[in-house]
Amino acid sequence: MTWPSHGSNPQYLYEAAGLTLPECLIDFSANINPLGPPAVLQKHWGDLFHGIGTYPDPHTASLKVKIANREGIGPERILIGNGGAEIISLLGRLIAEKKVLIVEPAFSEYEKACQVNNCDVSYYQLSDGWEIHLHDLIGKLQGMDAVFLCNPNNPTGMYYGTDIILPLLKACKRENCLLIVDEAFYDFTAEYEPLVPYLKEFPQLILMRSLTKIFAIPGIRLGYLMADRSLVEKLSAYQPHWSVNSVAIQAGEWCLEDEEHISKMIQFIQSERDVLLRFYQEQHFEVSNSAINFYLLRDPQLNDQYPLFEFLLKQGIVPRHTFNFPGLEGRWLRFAIRTSVENRKLMEAMKAWRRLNPSFL
Ligand SMILES: Cc1ncc(COP(=O)(O)O)c(C=O)c1O
Repeated sequence: MTWPSHGSNPQYLYEAAGLTLPECLIDFSANINPLGPPAVLQKHWGDLFHGIGTYPDPHTASLKVKIANREGIGPERILIGNGGAEIISLLGRLIAEKKVLIVEPAFSEYEKACQVNNCDVSYYQLSDGWEIHLHDLIGKLQGMDAVFLCNPNNPTGMYYGTDIILPLLKACKRENCLLIVDEAFYDFTAEYEPLVPYLKEFPQLILMRSLTKIFAIPGIRLGYLMADRSLVEKLSAYQPHWSVNSVAIQAGEWCLEDEEHISKMIQFIQSERDVLLRFYQEQHFEVSNSAINFYLLRDPQLNDQYPLFEFLLKQGIVPRHTFNFPGLEGRWLRFAIRTSVENRKLMEAMKAWRRLNPSFL
């Protein structure tokens, strides 16, 4: 059976599972802001039509300036991409044929980008509740040219603060190794500690961001990278001209003005997460120590979670499988935090599972 390599597009998941796609379903497999896109997008959507008759600015200058001002860095340190996915693909070219370490489990596109660019890939596998053991990780850096670290981590939702990142960054500097930190989900964590201030001192630091999760615009495709100017120049030389379209540029500028949307979402996620965690504890499910808008879950009575996965799919509840996450391999399921109504439907389905499969713990 070939499972889809990402969440969303549930029709492919049902096809792979040999199940009929229900008419009504709730997709917990994509980690998108449950509050939806900022209202400004819908309000001004019609205005975007005027921009499509001309080529977009190939330098994405206006959006770069907006991000630069927000982050307190120069626009020359920023590269805008057609989603974080394009940024990862450009990074793959940058580190082609080099020695790369991936901290796993992580977003599968890092490995894919490395493989198509003939990188020599090694892995640091997180276990024991997915804590990073610095001594072990730093021990693996010798001879490496680049490290991929997903922080906050997809799929676990774990967030690693500067107590972990700074010693790692210093070790990368000693080894002359790039540290690529994918911060696609950074806005979802209340306790985020900014790494941007370290860009000047550590030219080997590369920060990647995505606007598609936080602003719920995955169909538009928009992400960016912040790094040393020389790296940005190299990466932009690989990027197709006009890669970022004019709708994405304008939509990104509007979204970034809506700081309130982010603070509202953080509060909402925190309160929904508390409700869900209490419920899972009462019902004897095990959940990852997530700081963000999704979490891993397992019924500790099952090793392979497939029976629970199939049960939920049949009820129109779509979890994200973990077959393609090294170290998880189907022993966990990932769920996004969605609206209150949808999270309650999920809890109902979990209760129904528990009634049929009582816990003996
Ligand atoms: C950790 C991580 N980084 C990057 C991306 C790519 O995001 P985008 O939608 O901006 O291409 C994803 C998408 O799921 C992701 O999970």
